[in-house]
Amino acid sequence: MDLQGKSILVTGGAGFIGSHLIDRLIDERPARLAVVDNLWLGKLANLETAFQDFPALKFYQEDSASPRAMTRILQQEAVEIVFDLATIPLPASLVRPKWSARQIYDMALNVCELGRKGLYGTLIHCSSSEAYGSAAYTPMDEQHPLLVRTPYAAAKAAADLLVQSYQHTFGLDATIVRPFNNYGPRQNDKNYAGIIPIVVHRIRQGKAPVIYGDGEQTRDYSFVKDVVDGLVRVAKADAARGGVINIASGEEVTVNRLVRGIAAAMDYHGPIDYAPERPGDVRRHLADVTRARTLIDYHPQTVIEDGLRQTVAWYVQQINAHSS
Ligand SMILES: NC(=O)c1ccc[n+]([C@@H]2O[C@H](COP(=O)([O-])OP(=O)(O)OC[C@H]3O[C@@H](n4cnc5c(N)ncnc54)[C@H](O)[C@@H]3O)[C@@H](O)[C@H]2O)c1
Repeated sequence: MDLQGKSILVTGGAGFIGSHLIDRLIDERPARLAVVDNLWLGKLANLETAFQDFPALKFYQEDSASPRAMTRILQQEAVEIVFDLATIPLPASLVRPKWSARQIYDMALNVCELGRKGLYGTLIHCSSSEAYGSAAYTPMDEQHPLLVRTPYAAAKAAADLLVQSYQHTFGLDATIVRPFNNYGPRQNDKNYAGIIPIVVHRIRQGKAPVIYGDGEQTRDYSFVKDVVDGLVRVAKADAARGGVINIASGEEVTVNRLVRGIAAAMDYHGPIDYAPERPGDVRRHLADVTRARTLIDYHPQTVIEDGLRQTVAWYVQQINAHSS
């Protein structure tokens, strides 16, 4: 499907991945582009370049779980394609499990319902590798069982099952995309921050980075610009639509390599501290990307050290801007 001339809506579009997706979608020359985000965690600043590059971009500060708000927006924008990225992040589900799980579930259910009613045509629903939980085998392909460990993961898996049920029962044109670990500029560095911003902040404060365990545990990291390219490719490739598809690098990076990459990008030559392994930390996390390679010709280009340099530069610029 050609995205040129289409009307596209992104939920969670003021967030980390969503705002990069908006930037990427502008290259496709859509007729209309709209964001629904309640700014629970996202920021309008994430859309600054998008507003410059595409002044017709519409921003709606609304709840994507609200049938009334979403119906009005979908009608007003005559939306054809929805990229559903709104979420409550994993760490929040450890503090407010019931609320987080319900939000994630309700947002997906609402988007499915509105699709069933014909208020848009195509759904690209963003899931997570968390839905697979701890690896029963690696690399994890799309058939991997959903061995969820957290309320976040359970809600993401439940959302996926809902999407699949609407697909099978009502013929909703829906595809589930499962990104693995993403990093890049605009990733939230305050509440619920991930390892990269935490390490950047520690080094900036003159403290040694801390690695939990021996650092040889691995993750499948993808640079956010590669991930959003994958999302766009999924929407464009008819062969990819209708199933589940992993979006990841298909390569394992140890936490030691990740932290050394950040240190190098920050010109830090001090010590790296090691602390006891955290409970529940999985040893290996690696995607099988055969489907992505075959169906959407997905071959992410960004080497982790290069992506980390861009990411660190962004965090440092943010820290400087807020401290001046
Ligand atoms: N970041 C990762 O490493 C990662 C990995 C795998 C999957 N994912 C998935 O990718 C998607 C985007 O994640 P992200 O990292 O950009 O998260 P994010 O938290 O940066 O963005 C999510 C956005 O959703 C918005 N939001 C929350 N509740 C809302 C509501 N009720 N209505 C409207 N907007 C609401 C938030 O304000 C935020 O801007 C999610 O579906 C997430 O599960 C992310």
